[in-house]
Order: sequence, then C-alpha cells, then structure tokens
Amino acid sequence: MTLVLPPVIGHRGAAALAPENTLAAIRTAAAGGVAMVEVDAKLTADGVAILLHDDDLDRTTDGTGPAAVTTAAEFARLDAGRWFAPEFAGEPVPTLEAALALVVELGLAINIEIKPCPGREVETAKVVLATARAAWPAALAPPLMSSFALESLDVAARLAPDWPRGYLIWDRPDDWRDVADRLGAASLHVCPERSTPAQMAQYLADGRPVAAYTVNDAAAAAALWQAGVAAVFSDDPASLLPR
Ligand code: G3P
Ligand code: MG
Repeated sequence: MTLVLPPVIGHRGAAALAPENTLAAIRTAAAGGVAMVEVDAKLTADGVAILLHDDDLDRTTDGTGPAAVTTAAEFARLDAGRWFAPEFAGEPVPTLEAALALVVELGLAINIEIKPCPGREVETAKVVLATARAAWPAALAPPLMSSFALESLDVAARLAPDWPRGYLIWDRPDDWRDVADRLGAASLHVCPERSTPAQMAQYLADGRPVAAYTVNDAAAAAALWQAGVAAVFSDDPASLLPR
C-alpha cells in the first residue's frame, strides 16, 4: 500500500522553536497543529535508544564528548534545553521509549530516523526497532523508519518488514533505484539543495512519495508541493501549514 505522508513533518520535533529532539519540541510541534514529527535516534554506550542528532553531546546538551561512550545514567543527568533558551533549562535527553509514549499520547505520527554513531549501524537499528515495536500500539499506523545508513535500513527490513522504510539520500549513489527496491523503500527522503532539478524529477518519477529536508521557507515549500513532493521536513512546521 502506498505510504501517505502529511504535507508537513516537524523536523527534530520543531527545531526552530524548541530544543531539537526533546519532548518539548514534540509538544511544540503538536501544539502548532502538525500531524507528524521526525526525530533522530541513537544509542547510549550501554545500548539504550535515546534522541540525539549529533555523534557528540556538545552542541545540544550541557555534556561533552561522544554519545557512544556516554551511559544511559549519564545521559539522564544532562540538560538538553538550556543551550537553546533559558526557559527550556532542565529539559532531558529523552529515551526513545519516552518520546514514543508522548507521540502516542498526542496522537501524532512519527518518522524515526535511525542515526547510528559510526560502526554501530546494526546494533542501533536492532535496539531502535525493538524499542519501537514494544512501545508502539499495534492498532496505530506504524512509525516510518528511515536512515542514511543502509545497514540500519537492512536491519529494519528484516526485523519489521511490515513497517514502512524511508530511504534517506545524501550523496546519491548511481544505483539508488536498486537500493530503494532492495530496501523495499516506501518513501524517498531527499535534500533539494543537494539535488539537481533532473535528480528531483527522477525521484518524483520513481513512484514513491518524496519527502524533502529541510524546508523552512513557505515559498520553497509551495514550489516543492507543486512539483509533486509529498512532504517537507521543517524546523518551524506550523508556519507552513495551510491556514
Ligand atoms: O530525516 C530528515 C532529516 O532529519 C535528515 O537530516 O541531519 O537533519 O537528521 P538530519
Ligand atoms: Mg533527522
């Protein structure tokens, strides 16, 4: 069945309005009327799935050093909000489990981007899938799993063949169509700024819904929808919703 995406997906929750990949960012996206959020999931040193974009703690928390050597107990003591604005001080780095519970409570859909630290592609995907499988009610439409890491998507295809997979493309390989077919990709997640018009046209002609990251400009979003792009990831998603 063809995947149906909402026109706007909150990027890292709503990264322009609240600290990215936090529960506050997910709540902010929902309060703005957004139907779906995207988050980045990776592992603590001891194998717990948490939300964090970077391989290091420094940019988005008050910690320092690699995420891959930071335990869940150490993560639990970090502040992931103060760097963004004082009113978000005390905002934790959420576990994926906590984030999914909130997403369900708010009635949102979710795109979980598997964002492994280098070398942890397989184990990260295994834990993220197991965590999401346990946390996500079977009666709801399943999360959309995506990754730049093909090894992670292979694991997702094996462990949750019935959950849709989004193929995230950065440096497009020549055999991208074969890769998309092999992964059973339900959607293509592409960066318009890194794509030529011809490449965008090829994505759109491929038949899978195309989602574009990251789009924060209303005119750019309108042009992408007009061209046939199904969804845009935005840091200020509510600003792009139809009024
Ligand atoms: O999933 C879309 C987008 O989030 C991919 O790039 O680096 O923002 O995770 P990045
Ligand atoms: Mg992401």
